Amino acid sequence: MINDISKILLSCDDIERLTSRIAKDISQKNQDGNLLMVCILKGSFMFFADIVRKLSVPCEVDFMQASSYGCSTVSSGKINILKDISISADGKDVVVVDDILDTGCTLYKLREYFLEEKNAKSVTVCTLLDKPARRSFDIIPNYKGCEIPDEFVVGYGLDYDEYYRNLPFVGILKREIYEKSE
Ligand code: IMP
Ligand code: MG
Repeated sequence: MINDISKILLSCDDIERLTSRIAKDISQKNQDGNLLMVCILKGSFMFFADIVRKLSVPCEVDFMQASSYGCSTVSSGKINILKDISISADGKDVVVVDDILDTGCTLYKLREYFLEEKNAKSVTVCTLLDKPARRSFDIIPNYKGCEIPDEFVVGYGLDYDEYYRNLPFVGILKREIYEKSE
């Protein structure tokens, strides 16, 4: 598995540092006890677990899965929800946690969904990685780990064809791995 990685972008130590900083920031901005942390499956499962265990404020947690199939550039298009949250978001301060902000479609539409259909009091977005080069939706993350170049990355929850999620770090996948199967 490790032989398929051309460069490590975030080591375990980097991840420890970034998640501590983000959790501190979320805790400081959510002192009023109305916090709902939402994990976007599957990519953010490790990041989410690291963040929530470091929060110093009470929160509820829930899980959601959305398909990128709903991500057309047509702004009226709704996101395709494969698994919705099971507790109410009504009147809550929702923090949506995802692995990577690429075109921005997923987080843009999820923010809209929580505000318009779930009646959240506020929605902020948190992402481990940000690929600004590919942004086509107007969204700026409220909390973010770091910016990365326009490369395909895997590990720490992020996959290529469902594999590599269990790597404990984030690395660039060698092009030959995905170019050979295209
Ligand atoms: P967006 O909706 O275009 O911002 O895409 C976000 C989703 O695309 C992420 O949640 C990932 O599932 C996937 N994605 C984008 N870039 C990468 C990458 O480099 N590696 C793995 N998954 C990625
Ligand atoms: Mg994903």
